[in-house]
Amino acid sequence: MTTTDTTAPTRADAQALDAADPLATFRERYLPMDADVVAYLDGNSLGRPLTSIAESWQSFTAQQWAGRLIRGWSEGWMDLPERVGDELAAAALGAAPGTTIIADSTTVNFYKAMRAALNLRPGRRKVVLDRHNFPTNRYVVESLARDLDLELVWLDPPIEGGVTPDDVAAAIDEQTAVVTLSQIAYQSAYLADAPAITRIAHEAGALVVWDLCHSVGSTEIELDAWDVDFAVGCTYKFVGAGPGAPALLYANRRHHDRLDQPIWGWLGRRDSFEMEQGFLPAAGIRAMMSGTPPLLGLLGVREGAAVIAEAGIGAIRAKAIALTELTTAYARENLVPLGFSIASPLDPARRGGHVTIARADARELSARLIDAGVLIDFRAPHGIRIGLSPLPTSFTEVWDALDVIRRLS
Ligand SMILES: Cc1ncc(COP(=O)(O)O)c(C=O)c1O
Repeated sequence: MTTTDTTAPTRADAQALDAADPLATFRERYLPMDADVVAYLDGNSLGRPLTSIAESWQSFTAQQWAGRLIRGWSEGWMDLPERVGDELAAAALGAAPGTTIIADSTTVNFYKAMRAALNLRPGRRKVVLDRHNFPTNRYVVESLARDLDLELVWLDPPIEGGVTPDDVAAAIDEQTAVVTLSQIAYQSAYLADAPAITRIAHEAGALVVWDLCHSVGSTEIELDAWDVDFAVGCTYKFVGAGPGAPALLYANRRHHDRLDQPIWGWLGRRDSFEMEQGFLPAAGIRAMMSGTPPLLGLLGVREGAAVIAEAGIGAIRAKAIALTELTTAYARENLVPLGFSIASPLDPARRGGHVTIARADARELSARLIDAGVLIDFRAPHGIRIGLSPLPTSFTEVWDALDVIRRLS
């Protein structure tokens, strides 16, 4: 089924897609939802829990924490930010060992990565960013602009689209220090051409900081091959590591001898446990650390990375495309006639793992959908975001949800 088909997909079509789905059995790895849930279409916001995460937390608590107590910190807990970073990097980031840590929130990591990137481009004071990036990214950059007297160059892509390489090429100049964008736009799911944009930034002597929140675990990423400078991203969405799980932070090895981030915590210091006066950054990616690793969250990331590695990110991306194709085909035939627009790219090559449909009454309709057990999310001003997390979601579940949307609209 493709967006060029002109008949609405039927429930039987969705069942046939499930029957042929090579990832279908991964659904059984997740803990069950409440019986009133018709469909969970918010895995791009909060992923469903793997049974293995519950088991990992249980055994960590009973054996490691209860048994080893504080000895655990020197028996491996302290290294988990880098070890689990390597595991996620191998499964989903196209990044070599030693380039990624799991720590803090995306917001904090973004601040650190932006400051580190700006510190590598002294004398340049422009940052290129876009109006439809996630609020945290815009606010952090605005606070940096206030503190460091930066000039912000705002791109204004269409809300149903995203930033193109041409947009960046037109905005960048020899004063640009950093270009920062989301690889997948949180509203439209527009999938930016990260390698091309990174190249354009580098040709102008600027660095890039990519936000991977909506792409990690849903689409292919090749941070090393694309020569990305810094990247950050959530692990509680498609990685499914749990509510508030710590975020990823990648720094290209090329920058490791000059990593200068602003939150000088004890665990980013060389020889942390010597408790010395003054701050000297630790070697390598560890310089991006600040405080104590959140162990339970890290174990969630470990399980999420393991399941992505097992399924294969290529197969996950292929299913994401098939799920979003089903959704856009259904929406075009059955929801557009009811006054909706499709506020996501129609070209699957430019679309991430969710589809947004828009109508003026989206806020009120979203509340009714959630009451009916169709868990989508509303995104102001008029968007209903249909998140299609490939591993726990079936085609039939999505079709049933779309049919509820049609009936309640
Ligand atoms: C694209 C994007 N960037 C940043 C964030 C902020 O992440 P956190 O609240 O974990 O700091 C989010 C959260 O949903 C996001 O979607």
